[in-house]
Amino acid sequence: MHDSVSQDLYGIRLGAYTAREALDSDPGEAIAPLEYVITLTEAGLAEMRALISELRPESLAFEGVIAAITKQVAVLRTRYKLSVYAQLIEEPPLSPERKQALYRIAQEALHNIVKHACASTVTLRLSSQEGKLILEVCDDGKGFDPTGPFPGHLGLLSMQERAVQMGGTCSIESAPEWGTYFRVCIPILPHEKPGDAGVVGERH
Ligand SMILES: Nc1ncnc2c1ncn2[C@@H]1O[C@H](COP(=O)(O)OP(=O)(O)OP(=O)(O)O)[C@@H](O)[C@H]1O
Ligand SMILES: [Mg+2]
Repeated sequence: MHDSVSQDLYGIRLGAYTAREALDSDPGEAIAPLEYVITLTEAGLAEMRALISELRPESLAFEGVIAAITKQVAVLRTRYKLSVYAQLIEEPPLSPERKQALYRIAQEALHNIVKHACASTVTLRLSSQEGKLILEVCDDGKGFDPTGPFPGHLGLLSMQERAVQMGGTCSIESAPEWGTYFRVCIPILPHEKPGDAGVVGERH
């Protein structure tokens, strides 16, 4: 998701030049290129924030998995103009490795939506229930046949593997023209205290 920032910078430069020229002739004409500059700047900033925290291996332990997922959500909104409904519990008490695995699963699910789904709305929910963490990612895109096979494609496989490694399960419901519902259920281990059930929800 992070390969577009240099394109943003080119666009920002072009928008700024166009606005400057317009200021000399017809200042009203500067508004559209300036709006363009603002949009590109916001998308670039969201993407850089997500990228910078990904480059710091300790950031998941430091900032938490919820903050990391929230940054990915910001990228979906600003860069890909998706309407994302995110409902996330407070930071779950997982080990740093398990946080990393959960983050990678969420990231791949979101990445797949951007890459394949042609969706307009995404629902992302992380909840805790009876000693389990449940991650649900749902899109209203074109759907697919999840029974595959997808030779040479590793994303779904790696999500499945990560969920199983965490002692959990992973399921996908999808059909062409129907959208996709992706669900991962992970047990909270005995030494991991159940997370606060307080839910923080927001819509954009
Ligand atoms: N949310 C989705 N909406 C529509 N199609 C999807 C979605 N998620 C996955 N797919 C389909 O499932 C296939 C397999 O996904 P998978 O993540 O395994 O591979 P990939 O994204 O193509 O490549 P990569 O190995 O980089 O992840 C995709 O090629 C795509 O056709
Ligand atoms: Mg993929």
